[in-house]
Amino acid sequence: MHPLCLSVLVLACLLPVAFSAGSSVEWCYHLPSCNDSTWPVIAAHFCNGSRQSPINIKASLKLKQMTPFLQKFTFTGFNDEAAMFKIKNTGKTVKVEFKAGTLKVSGGGLSTAYDSLQFHLHWGNLSSPGSEHTVDGKRYPMELHIVNAKSIYNGNIAKILQDSEGLAALGFFIEVESGTTDQPASWRNLTAHLGSITEKGQYADITGISMDDLISGVDTTSYYRYLGSLTTPNCNEAVVWTVFKNSIKVSKNLIDLFSTTVRVGNSSSPFMTNVYRSVQFLNGR
Ligand SMILES: *[C@@H]1O[C@H](CO)[C@@H](O)[C@H](O)[C@H]1NC(C)=O
Ligand SMILES: *[C@@H]1O[C@H](CO)[C@@H](O)[C@H](O)[C@H]1NC(C)=O
Ligand SMILES: *[C@@H]1O[C@H](CO)[C@@H](O)[C@H](O)[C@H]1NC(C)=O
Ligand SMILES: *[C@@H]1O[C@H](CO)[C@@H](O)[C@H](O)[C@H]1NC(C)=O
Ligand SMILES: *[C@@H]1O[C@H](CO)[C@@H](O)[C@H](O)[C@H]1NC(C)=O
Ligand SMILES: [Zn+2]
Repeated sequence: MHPLCLSVLVLACLLPVAFSAGSSVEWCYHLPSCNDSTWPVIAAHFCNGSRQSPINIKASLKLKQMTPFLQKFTFTGFNDEAAMFKIKNTGKTVKVEFKAGTLKVSGGGLSTAYDSLQFHLHWGNLSSPGSEHTVDGKRYPMELHIVNAKSIYNGNIAKILQDSEGLAALGFFIEVESGTTDQPASWRNLTAHLGSITEKGQYADITGISMDDLISGVDTTSYYRYLGSLTTPNCNEAVVWTVFKNSIKVSKNLIDLFSTTVRVGNSSSPFMTNVYRSVQFLNGR
């Protein structure tokens, strides 16, 4: 969450990168000087902490705090096809911002209500998967993160980040739907915008897709829960994580568009590939 905009428009400008928090540090995924093995040094606060994300979820062991709950979420506005504001190439991810105040999340074992700010994605390359969380060592092709901030703080970033559950992140795995192309329609619509945001800093309007359309088919009553962090510098330990057990199914040709369309910089820069952080130590979680 990087250059933090402490304005009323906070929901539109907050969390520009994957949700890296207040980071002034030049971090990256692939250069030896700034890749994730260096974050605990170049951003020691908080990337060198003890409740970092992502983690490998040991489903079969039913770790403390990680058993699948069965408490229902209430998703408000997830069916609103006008709730998405802009789709952006941040140079580190593809992010979609929500119009302020349109989406909310509560229930699901969360202690209070949260406002949804944005979602963004993590992916691999044509031959290698790129989810951030893994389940019993399995890495999925992609992962979608919906970032939500505790409503009582009204977008006050300092307060959000001081609260160990100031942010609620919802993680959805994306798997290949074999035997199809261009499916589902919502993902065809979403990925159709990638060609307009090939370079870092570019953005496009997005409309006609709801959050429900994108997560359609996922049973949201089955999920893993643990306390962790942002997965990009400064890795603030202010996140209550929900990772859904079931995945979103998307055709391989649409998944592949991410690693072959958007670039980390201008038109002569490399494509954005393998944009995920390595799994972190559980440290007793
Ligand atoms: C990350 O950087 C370190 C050195 O800082 C290097 O040893 C390692 O190979 C790099 N890893 C990747 C995946 O680039
Ligand atoms: C990171 O934390 C570990 C354990 O607390 C410590 O040994 C190490 O020196 C720290 N590294 C940095 C770069 O702060
Ligand atoms: C894809 O990423 C994997 C994992 O980093 C790497 O080993 C492989 O060489 C990459 N493949 C291509 C085609 O870049
Ligand atoms: C896809 O976009 C078109 C307009 O471009 C819209 O009419 C349609 O409803 C959208 N479908 C889905 C499933 O989002
Ligand atoms: C792309 O960026 C690089 C490095 O910042 C720069 O040297 C190059 O001139 C740019 N190329 C174009 C086509 O803008
Ligand atoms: Zn993320």
